[in-house]
Amino acid sequence: MTERIVLAYSGGLDTSVAIGWIGEATGAEVIAVAVDVGQGGESLETIRQRALGCGAVEAYVADASDEFANEYCMPTLKANALYQGHYPLVSAISRPVIVKHLVKAAREFGATTVAHGCTGKGNDQVRFEVGIQTLGPDLKCIAPVRDLALTRDKAIAFAEEKGLPIETTKKNPYSIDQNVWGRAVETGYLEDIWNAPTKDIYDYTATPEFPPAPDEVTISFEAGVPVAIDGVRVTPLQAIKELNRRAGAQGVGRIDVVEDRLVGIKSREIYEAPGAMALITAHKHLEDITVEREQARFKATVGQRWAELVYDGQWFSPLKRSLDAFIEDTQQYVTGDIRMVLHGGQAIVNGRRSETSLYDFDLATYDTGDTFDQSMARGFIELWGMSAKVASGRDIRVAGK
Ligand code: ARG
Repeated sequence: MTERIVLAYSGGLDTSVAIGWIGEATGAEVIAVAVDVGQGGESLETIRQRALGCGAVEAYVADASDEFANEYCMPTLKANALYQGHYPLVSAISRPVIVKHLVKAAREFGATTVAHGCTGKGNDQVRFEVGIQTLGPDLKCIAPVRDLALTRDKAIAFAEEKGLPIETTKKNPYSIDQNVWGRAVETGYLEDIWNAPTKDIYDYTATPEFPPAPDEVTISFEAGVPVAIDGVRVTPLQAIKELNRRAGAQGVGRIDVVEDRLVGIKSREIYEAPGAMALITAHKHLEDITVEREQARFKATVGQRWAELVYDGQWFSPLKRSLDAFIEDTQQYVTGDIRMVLHGGQAIVNGRRSETSLYDFDLATYDTGDTFDQSMARGFIELWGMSAKVASGRDIRVAGK
């Protein structure tokens, strides 16, 4: 029987050419798999037809947008995950869900190998292949761009020679990856890290310099997950989409960073994640009133480690799973409403309320009638500073000798 290879298919030039390229190089039949993670653009049916037109023996499309929002974006939100303090893991969290569908398709169509269109320099190859090794240990991986020398020039020549139903003239100078959680743009003019991004780079966000009137929004959460916007019930996917639209119109969520890739390279990245950044800001502020201090401090460390693991392609790892359990436990009381104003590139919280809040007005107030016994503070401070005071006495004694 002819060998079968499942290819992660985006509908773009590289993966369209990869169908025939892999076929010629290996003699295998190629099954194209396109996964909808809320990236917008062309319909899945258009993409499916193109895959068939480019020589795929089967084309499988999966609508994973709700699955992606519920099982990948929501854990990222609960962790307040920002890699290196900036990046909400847009591409990093989409790879594991795509891997799930690739492995499923490989089983369904009897494929022995999974292929993806990544280069050998980035994180995404690692995320795909580590994911596949974990979920389908018997499956092999190949990357035509990396392993079969499929360069951009060769791709264009191949498409033209074979008359593939794909645009080869429209040249985009950037490498772009997008889904409902955000958009990542890299390479080209951006590789000079002193160059400011030009306007044409952005798609999810409007220029924050000329914002429309301020937009006040109330986001309601239950156990760390957004459930309503301005009182209207929403699914996680709807919440992200609605905030992409409203925060995007205000230019919220633009990020310009040089980040540390897993492969040891520092690289310039432009992200726009209006919905994700508005949600993370709101969620963090709700945690500030509902999560106990020591748990909150520890959770910040856990969230950072979680972000690193996910960035580094360890979505399906035991440590990531254990950290998920901790994070989930902290979300029990993260229920309530956050009111924020979206304007001029910023999402600024100006009100919060929760039935499960730890904020105690009677303890906090400076007005008369507070329930806090200030006389206790003196003794507390005396003991709190004792250890450092004893050490400093020793320093003085030793220095005096
Ligand atoms: N550097 C980011 C990451 O590793 C974004 C990668 C986006 N991928 C792309 N092909 N443009 O998560």
